[in-house]
Amino acid sequence: LSGNAEKLPLQAWHINMESLMNILEVAKMVEEVKKVFWPSSIAVFGPSTPRINTPQLTIMEPSTVYGVSKLAGERWCEYYNRKYKLDIRSIRYPGLISYKTEAGGGTTDYAVEIYYEAVKKKKYECFLRKNTALPLLFMPDAIKATIDLMEADHSKLSVYSSYNLGGLSISPEQINTEIKKHIPDFKISYKPDFRQDIADSWPQSIDDSVSRKDWGCHYDFDLSRITDIMIEEISKKLNLKILER
Ligand code: SER
Repeated sequence: LSGNAEKLPLQAWHINMESLMNILEVAKMVEEVKKVFWPSSIAVFGPSTPRINTPQLTIMEPSTVYGVSKLAGERWCEYYNRKYKLDIRSIRYPGLISYKTEAGGGTTDYAVEIYYEAVKKKKYECFLRKNTALPLLFMPDAIKATIDLMEADHSKLSVYSSYNLGGLSISPEQINTEIKKHIPDFKISYKPDFRQDIADSWPQSIDDSVSRKDWGCHYDFDLSRITDIMIEEISKKLNLKILER
């Protein structure tokens, strides 16, 4: 993901590109492969992109190696689509919030870590500033969107690079407020690191009207419900770990 990729740029490039190119080549050679899904990211956008309601088609000059590899991947997907008539579909995921998968080196990962730390220690030091709004989405909504896109009638699709997915525009301070409703003595502090620059180069909110029109994308979970579920599920998970010991 974006943060870890900055520490090992060439390795990040190889991981993202070689896996994609292998899959595209297999899809080209093997007739049984009917559809390919490839995950892109809001990281394809950069500092010159309009940051509010970022359109589907806009300026894309990513400043991270993760974003550069995702943008290159989008171009390859569209190329294979056109040249070899392959059915390749893709989503530009916003930051994903999940209690099943723990944080893994992304810039939006604060939005997962914060819940774990709130349950474990009732405090969290955030690596982004308090008002840094980024597009975030609850994992079940992201999974549903992915399945909906893959099951959509091909004739309805108009984007062969990658579809914008908006989710919610959320800042650390907003999550803090929601967590405090469950854990009133939760304490957050802010110590921005290199990931602040990455966050500042990404959109604050995304226009996903093309996804809504083409394949009916929509979301079921708002921040209040996400917070209820995250705190409940992480508490269960951590208690279970303690009991197992
Ligand atoms: N969530 C990812 C990250 O923060 C971006 O796709 O790296």
